[in-house]
Amino acid sequence: MTDLTAMPQWQHLEALASSIRDQHMRDWFTQDEDRAARMQVESCGLYLDFSKNRVTDEVMQALFSLADAQGLNEKRQRMFSGEAINTTENRAVLHTALRNFSDTPVLVAGKDVMPEVRATLKKMESFTQAVHGGEHKGYTGKPIKHVVSIGIGGSFLGPKIMTEALSPYRSDAVRIHFVANVDGCHIHDVLNGLDHAETLVVMSSKSFTTQETLQNTESAKAWFLQQGGTQQDVAKHFVAVSSNVDAAVEFGIAKENIFPMWDWVGGRYSLWSAIGLPIALALGFANFKQLLEGAHHMDKHFATAPNDRNLPVILAMLGVWYRNFFDAQSHVLLPYYHYLRGLPAYVQQLDMESNGKMVTQQGERVSYPTGPVIWGSEGTNGQHSFHQLIHQGHGIIPADFILPLNVPNQDDTHHAMLASNCFGQSQALMQGKTYDECLADLANKELQEDERARLAEHKTMPGNKPSNTILFDSLTPHTLGALIAMYEHKVFVQGVVWQLNSFDQWGVELGKALGNQVLAGIQGDVDEAKFDTSTQQLIARFKHANAP
Ligand code: F6P
Repeated sequence: MTDLTAMPQWQHLEALASSIRDQHMRDWFTQDEDRAARMQVESCGLYLDFSKNRVTDEVMQALFSLADAQGLNEKRQRMFSGEAINTTENRAVLHTALRNFSDTPVLVAGKDVMPEVRATLKKMESFTQAVHGGEHKGYTGKPIKHVVSIGIGGSFLGPKIMTEALSPYRSDAVRIHFVANVDGCHIHDVLNGLDHAETLVVMSSKSFTTQETLQNTESAKAWFLQQGGTQQDVAKHFVAVSSNVDAAVEFGIAKENIFPMWDWVGGRYSLWSAIGLPIALALGFANFKQLLEGAHHMDKHFATAPNDRNLPVILAMLGVWYRNFFDAQSHVLLPYYHYLRGLPAYVQQLDMESNGKMVTQQGERVSYPTGPVIWGSEGTNGQHSFHQLIHQGHGIIPADFILPLNVPNQDDTHHAMLASNCFGQSQALMQGKTYDECLADLANKELQEDERARLAEHKTMPGNKPSNTILFDSLTPHTLGALIAMYEHKVFVQGVVWQLNSFDQWGVELGKALGNQVLAGIQGDVDEAKFDTSTQQLIARFKHANAP
């Protein structure tokens, strides 16, 4: 494959970046009244204003040309049609099939996966209804009132964050609790105070090998037995979601209580599969289906809209622009909606586990930066914390401002304040405040001239800091599905441009393997001398502190 940085499209972008580096967005807005009206797109219930970016129309066209030159159309088609585009694991990548409400079959190695997808959705629906309707009872005959969802990574973040984001849609039938970390404090706090006879544990692990999830489930089972349940009663209280059905059965989960998934569903793309069972249990199956439908809507948009009207493509190429031509190290997500406060953590795994790579599909080292650090938190809280660095720190941190136009239990004053802060921040980032404006503000103060000048330097805000604003009417399950799928496809497009395999995660494996070896060291099962001296020292301290 041609070196990306040697491509004419890349070099054209480099030239454009140098030519506009000293231009200010503030001037572009004054000179061009149509800028905001031109640089906006709306689809699937999402409205994107991308006018506060350091781009001209020419830059956008050049970015789209790069995406085309990298074969975006063909690669997108290969993903949707079930080709094994995860080439290090020889797997198809078909989260889109999980929310495929069209009649189109989706073939993996010649076999249509849609019947299995539909059958699993049906099983999830019946199970959810049986739990909510009280037909699925605990072993003492009590209805299920609490669901404890155990899983980590993609088997946790999707269910937890979607359920939280859709809090206003929660069913009264059950209360949902999530446990991910192997830190025993977490499971202890969750189980403490629950009645085991009305608790259902959903254990979610695609691989069924993840240490944290296996251990937390063991602890939940031990708790259940200790509280009075018997081994026979476990079947009424423990269900599993996994692609490794044999391992789940061996672990002790009744076969009929296993909800299948498939190796063509990546962990961080799995909320649409049976991994979403806790979402269905928390919100009702109809709402879960709406979430899938919203994502399907976005899939259709992504597959068919031209680049310059295509939400994921626009967001992805703006990200490439800043990462590769403006040296932006990170990207901040700023949801101005309390219930959506988990979005940065969700997109963090999605993006960083997908594109945090340094080798191309062909196994060659890349010569350009790839995935940025994704971070952020809910507005307005961040304004009183890290926004300072975004406004006046070194370099640029592109931002996505995300705001629902309506919220549940709407109090007009609160919501108007929330919206005005959101819009005010992106405006401040874009326009900044010049030295002269700051000096003018200080004109009436009784200050020496040099003191006035010194203070004006501190107060000057460079501006020219880029941001997108994403608005929607209200956060329905459909809108949330579309929003999440938009970020999934954004990550896909960037992976295509950077020539990465966005669907493996070899980087996490070494840590897992070494963690297991250290555990064996702590438990006295391996000779500690095999560890480096620092690790030996840390193990010794731990053992000393935990000596009987
Ligand atoms: O941390 C790596 C990872 O493989 C994630 O990609 C995945 O979501 C998580 O572990 C959990 O894996 P599993 O569902 O197999 O337990």
